[in-house]
Amino acid sequence: MRRPMVAGNWKMHGTRASVVELINGLNQQALPAGVDVAVFPSCLHLGQVVDGLAGRAVAVGAQDCATEAQQGALTGEVAASQLHDACCSLVLVGHSERRLLLGESDEVVTRKFAAAQSSGLLPVLCVGETLAQREAGQTLEVVAAQLSAVTDALGVEVFSAAVIAYEPVWAIGTGLTASPAQAQEVHAAIRAQLAAKSPELAGKVRILYGGSVKAASAAELFGMPDIDGGLVGGASLNADEFGAICRAAGS
Ligand code: PGA
Repeated sequence: MRRPMVAGNWKMHGTRASVVELINGLNQQALPAGVDVAVFPSCLHLGQVVDGLAGRAVAVGAQDCATEAQQGALTGEVAASQLHDACCSLVLVGHSERRLLLGESDEVVTRKFAAAQSSGLLPVLCVGETLAQREAGQTLEVVAAQLSAVTDALGVEVFSAAVIAYEPVWAIGTGLTASPAQAQEVHAAIRAQLAAKSPELAGKVRILYGGSVKAASAAELFGMPDIDGGLVGGASLNADEFGAICRAAGS
């Protein structure tokens, strides 16, 4: 059995005051013991969140890291080793907002993935198609290419210490959730692609769904055989809603 994970991506949200409120709200949530829960605050608030959630079974991750694992002269970037030192245990790589708005290529995403692992962080590789790609019938091809970029460069074994998040771009922040069947189709294809190289590993890797997940839609999505939890954006800024999504993954 794969242990579910629910991760909250806070994106570019939060002030010191609102982060205090969110931490307080999370500290009041009953979180299911059988679910890995993680939050990804902005880099600015990582220390505050690590301290504020100390003692809770909530992992803290970063939303991005540099392509270089070690510290150095790279203005504005944060190295995976620095994130590890700051008590992060995970990092998102290849979120579609970074791929599309900041032009991150598969090659850059792969280097970040490797930097994360070499620093002891669990990379969460985000993949997903745009609406135009879905409408052109290219969904599986696009997602397969994003996944192959990593496995071709680093080998399939790297997914023994990584998580995948399938996030259709058209469902992110739009209120449009992929139907459980639509999501399951892509999750199954991702797992089959890994299984072609290593069936044992494919059976163990967690594949999260992301894109307008809400408490109301979570249980049905998480009930699908290849959906192992969620990467939650907007709804993770509300502690009660996020707590409910975590509990849905535990039921
Ligand atoms: P959303 O974001 O839940 O607000 O759609 C998900 C994500 O981008 O990780």
